[in-house]
Amino acid sequence: MTFSELIEKKKHKIELSNAEIEWLISNYVKGVVTDYQFSAMAMAIYFNGMTNRETAALTTAYVNSGKTYDVSKVQGFKADKHSTGGVGDKTSLVFSPLVASYGIKVCKLSGRGLGQTGGTIDKLETFPGWQSELTNDEFIKVVNEVGMSLIAQSNDVVPADKKIYALRDVTGTVDSMPLIAASIMSKKLIIENDGLILDVKTGDGAFMKTVEQAEDLANRMIGIGREHGRKIAVLITDMNKPLGKAIGNAIEVKEAWDALHGKGPQDFNELVATAVGVTLLQAKIFDDLKTAKKDVYKKMQSGEAAHFFKEFVIAQHGDWSVMENYDQVFTNKHKIEIKTKTKGFVKYNQAEGLGLLSMHLGAGRQTKEESIDHAAGIYLNKGFGEAVEVGETIMTLYTNKEINPEWEQQAYETFTIVEKQPKEEVIIKIISD
Ligand code: URA
Repeated sequence: MTFSELIEKKKHKIELSNAEIEWLISNYVKGVVTDYQFSAMAMAIYFNGMTNRETAALTTAYVNSGKTYDVSKVQGFKADKHSTGGVGDKTSLVFSPLVASYGIKVCKLSGRGLGQTGGTIDKLETFPGWQSELTNDEFIKVVNEVGMSLIAQSNDVVPADKKIYALRDVTGTVDSMPLIAASIMSKKLIIENDGLILDVKTGDGAFMKTVEQAEDLANRMIGIGREHGRKIAVLITDMNKPLGKAIGNAIEVKEAWDALHGKGPQDFNELVATAVGVTLLQAKIFDDLKTAKKDVYKKMQSGEAAHFFKEFVIAQHGDWSVMENYDQVFTNKHKIEIKTKTKGFVKYNQAEGLGLLSMHLGAGRQTKEESIDHAAGIYLNKGFGEAVEVGETIMTLYTNKEINPEWEQQAYETFTIVEKQPKEEVIIKIISD
């Protein structure tokens, strides 16, 4: 087998065999296939696509490129949830303790944020000392003792994805459906969980700009799951506006903590209750979603699942005291209030703009090397659809950087004030295998 034969086949839309895909990926990881050769292949895949069988084989080759986690010593049903990335998305921080409170174990690999999207690992690093990388044994210990553990992808986990994602980033091939599907699913398959929820975001602040694209990605990932014997449910959810009211890191952790005590914003609560509810169906704890969600809402209201989150942070060596002294620890030099000029109802329509603004305030990174300021971010004093009077504060920007005079204008561009109260629909569709 030579690389030239494989690129010729893909160029002429001839399916690659499983063995050919395995050869291609293992030799690219080893450096036998060069970056310029693999760039040509990525572009051929971008234009000619991959069948479901090819995409599943690609995912397997990714998984085989590195270490997997052995969770056979975890007792009970094991669950995971993954989001394709959005603005203000702190769902995993509330989903995991709630799921754990039902005796289900959460064994989860999470990511960092890039560009307008936030990452769960960055948010958890709000707690000084919190460890994102654990050995297999440490991971199992935290899961068994606390009920949940979230960890970061270390260098030896799916190295093929790390190398190929970096190449895609600079060769215009990030938005290839089979490459996205294999990238996401490989990182889910390395932990053998019993249930998996995928939150595929669609809209301005998401990768998938249209519902059709989101459904296409969802079906491909369900197909990969089927080939690997995994049951998956997909939530297609709205990302034209941010999720909840907090955008940043510490500020999102605080919102998550509030949601665990029944004080979360309504759109966020609904997404969490649905994701947990679907997991409860997968674990056969409930058999209809309506009853499951009702029970989850009750748990959010009572605050009974919150302690799982605190115990998990402490078990991974995080300093919990920062949450108790939030206002003293997470200080900002500047607080910019954005006020309304007209009366009406708030309609956020640029989630991406808000995510980018939060990044510029210091809460996110433009390149993987940049560090972030956990205190920076945005709070939406008025949520989507809320009534406002002239002169009321719509949102507050928090930063420790020098003020850029363009920020205010950028903030104004992310919303309009409309006469009729706009409706919000966070869950667009649920697709279950
Ligand atoms: N998230 C991933 O992990 N991979 C992609 O390719 C896109 C989004």
